[in-house]
Amino acid sequence: MPTKLDAQVPSSAPGGADDALMKVRDLQVHYALRGSSMGRLFGAGGDVVKAVDGVTFDLRRREVLGLVGESGSGKTTLGRALLGLVRPTGGEVRYGEHDLPSLSERRLRPFRRKLQMVFQDPSAALNPSMDIEAAVGHPLQIHKLVANRTERRERVVEALERVGLAPVERFLSKYPSDLSGGQKQRAVLARAIILGPELLVADEPISMLDMSVRAKILELMLDLKRDLDLTYVYITHDLATAKFFCDRVAIMYLGRIVEIGPTEEIFSDPKHPYTKALLRAIPEPDPGALVPRDLPRGEIPDAAAPPLGCSFHPRCPAAFEKCGWETRDLRPLLEQRWLGLDEDAYDAERATIGNLDSLDVPAHQVRLSPGRGRGPGDVEALVQRAREADPQEPLWKGVKRLEAQDGAVAVDFHEGEDPRLRPAGAVEVACHLY
Ligand SMILES: Nc1ncnc2c1ncn2[C@@H]1O[C@H](COP(=O)(O)OP(=O)(O)O)[C@@H](O)[C@H]1O
Ligand code: SF4
Ligand SMILES: [Mg+2]
Repeated sequence: MPTKLDAQVPSSAPGGADDALMKVRDLQVHYALRGSSMGRLFGAGGDVVKAVDGVTFDLRRREVLGLVGESGSGKTTLGRALLGLVRPTGGEVRYGEHDLPSLSERRLRPFRRKLQMVFQDPSAALNPSMDIEAAVGHPLQIHKLVANRTERRERVVEALERVGLAPVERFLSKYPSDLSGGQKQRAVLARAIILGPELLVADEPISMLDMSVRAKILELMLDLKRDLDLTYVYITHDLATAKFFCDRVAIMYLGRIVEIGPTEEIFSDPKHPYTKALLRAIPEPDPGALVPRDLPRGEIPDAAAPPLGCSFHPRCPAAFEKCGWETRDLRPLLEQRWLGLDEDAYDAERATIGNLDSLDVPAHQVRLSPGRGRGPGDVEALVQRAREADPQEPLWKGVKRLEAQDGAVAVDFHEGEDPRLRPAGAVEVACHLY
C-alpha cells in the first residue's frame, strides 16, 4: 500500500538508457597541512594529503555500491564529498542537471534532502537529550516540511514502522540511552529516510553493533532500498558483508579506485594485486582492521607523500619495471635486511653508506656516498649482496643502473607510470598488468 513516504520519493528516474544517479568525474579532495616537516623539507608551502585523488565512476540508480579499502584509503572523504559535506578541490559530482561542488551552500540545501548519510556510531548520531519522536522528526522541522506536531508525529510513526521499531507508541517518548545499539541505528535510519531521500551513504553502519544484530540491520536496509527505491553507497572494511550486500564493489587505495566491478566478478576473479591481497585477508581476526596478507611490506604509505608511479608499488608482489620504483623504496629494503644481521655485520654495513637521508626524497635517481673510510666499490658490493640475498624482491626489476661514479654509487630506477582505470573483462582496473 502506498504511503506518504512512498509519495515523497522523487520519480526523477527518466526510465531511459541513462541509469546513472550520479556521475563522479576526476574528483579530488586534497587537504593542505601547514607547517609539516615534510613540507619544509621540500620547500613547499606545506604538505597536501590527497584524501581523494582523481576518482571517476557512475553511481547507478538503485544499486548498492561498496567502497572497500584499508583505513585511510579515502572512503569516508569520498562518501562525504558525494553528499556535498566536504568541498572537493577538483572534479565533478553530477547529480541530475547539477554539479554539486559548484553550488553555493544555499543552492545545495534542497539537495541535502535527497542525499543522506548514516554513520558508524549511532550513539554519537543521536542527541541524548532529544526523545526519539523529536530526533527522527527533526529533519522535517529543519526543512520546514510539517505544519504542526500532529503532522510530524504521523510522519515519524510511519518512519519508525518502516524501520521496525514497534510498537511505535512505546518508542516515541524514549531517549537514545533507553535503546540498544541496533535500535539506535534503526532510529538513525528512520531519520535518514524521513525526508524521502534518493541516496544513502552508509559509512560502516554496522561495525559498532553487536554481531547478533548486524545481519538484521543490513536486511532492513535492503528492505528499505526496495520499498523506497533507494541507492546506496556502502562504506566498509568488511569484505564478507560487502559480498553479501553490494551489487558492485569499488576497491580503494590511497585516494584512488584501483578496481571496480560487479561484486561477483571482484570476488571470483580479482584482478588488481591489492584486491587479491585483500581477499586473502578474510576473515579478518580484528574487527575494525583490514589487514591484507601476503604483501612484501605491510605498511600503508603516508597519503601526504604517496609513492611515485603506481602508489601500490612498494607493497605489490607483482610490481615490475614501469610501476614507479624510486629511491624511497631502497631505504626500507636496506633497513629490513639490517634487522636480520648480527650487531657486527650491521655496524659494518651501516657504516658503508654515508648518509641515508638522501633516500627519503622522491626521485628516480640517487647517489649513495660511501661512509668514512669506505669507497664506492664497498657501497656497490653492499647493494649487490642485498640483491643476491633476495633476488625475488620486485624492487630489483626497477633498477636500471647501479654504477660507481665520481666517488659515489649512482642508482637509477626505470621511470614509472601512474596506471589509470581501464576495462579488463567485466571490471575496470588500474594496474599495468592489464
Ligand atoms: N579533515 C581532514 N584534514 C586532513 N586530512 C584528512 C581529513 N580528513 C581525512 N584526512 C586524511 O585523508 C585520508 C583519507 O581519510 P578517510 O577518508 O577518513 O579514509 P577512510 O575512511 O578510508 O579511513 C587519511 O590520510 C586522513 O588522515
Ligand atoms: S601497476 Fe599493477 S603490478 Fe604495478 S605496482 Fe601497481 S598494482 Fe602492482
Ligand atoms: Mg572512514
